[in-house]
Amino acid sequence: MPEPKVFVTRPLFEETIARLREHAEVDVWPDSDSLPRDELLRRLRDVDAVLCLLADRIDAEALDAGPQLRIVANMAVGYDNIDVTAATRRSIVVTNTPGVLTETTADLTFALLLAAARRVAEGDRFVRAGGWKTWSPSLLLGQDIHGATLGVVGMGQIGLAVARRARGFNMRILYADIERRPEAEAALGAERVDLDRLLRESDFVSLHVFLAPETRHLIGERELSLMKSTAILVNAARGPVVDQPALYRALAEGRIAAAGLDVAEVEPIPLDDPLLTLENVVITPHIGSATIATRLRMANMAAENIEQALRGELPSHCLNPQAFGRATGNK
Ligand code: GLV
Repeated sequence: MPEPKVFVTRPLFEETIARLREHAEVDVWPDSDSLPRDELLRRLRDVDAVLCLLADRIDAEALDAGPQLRIVANMAVGYDNIDVTAATRRSIVVTNTPGVLTETTADLTFALLLAAARRVAEGDRFVRAGGWKTWSPSLLLGQDIHGATLGVVGMGQIGLAVARRARGFNMRILYADIERRPEAEAALGAERVDLDRLLRESDFVSLHVFLAPETRHLIGERELSLMKSTAILVNAARGPVVDQPALYRALAEGRIAAAGLDVAEVEPIPLDDPLLTLENVVITPHIGSATIATRLRMANMAAENIEQALRGELPSHCLNPQAFGRATGNK
């Protein structure tokens, strides 16, 4: 049998590429910053597997570009960049990397929460611009975190990890979720409420839902208008969960106090986006899982999913087991 072929859409850890090379011929796109669409389509032409990132749109067109594809292995827990239904229809297995990035993403979420509440990025800009002349009782006043109420929207693994950190700050925890999460209630005293009550009562609202048609613009004009004028919105999930122009208006008009964002509706956020003119926004470039150890774990988990599929096994983190028949080689 000829060696299977794998396309890796960005340079990754040598360790990850080396393990894939033990099982397959591996083509690695050499540029970390971008992969033109036509190159993606071209390189999918004769491969059995693709290891891709959340920045790669794997839609029906991309799936059709790879008639031999058996598996699309996303190096992310979120998979809104992949048309899973279209993949299933073509019997192509789709996998993600859950679990390994939970704590790292919760750390970054909390960093944004702290930075937005205590105006850390603004303070840094202030010092560098020569603004620090004296100690002033009214300089850069922010919000207390300890003792405040945190509203977690989506109490999945990452939401739970954020809530655990919040307990260390003696925060009261509310959550909104389509399911009850007894673990969060028992371990953290979290109280399940509906989204409107969460928005009304929380000092910090942190979003941890997947992006899906039901969660697109979950936080819009109406929801923002329910929040306290002192409240802070944190989004380290997906940009389109928030109606960004509505968020801009709420922040610019002081209807909420600040936002900490790791994601944007369009990524990278255009430099002329009005959000970037606001001092009360702290924003990072979608780096929730960006530590060396976690990115290595994610890359290796994606590679493992590919290895399993190429061996004819159901990958451990398969999102569409219905598609498994074709991954066994029965094309
Ligand atoms: C990052 O956003 C991920 O989904 O892993």
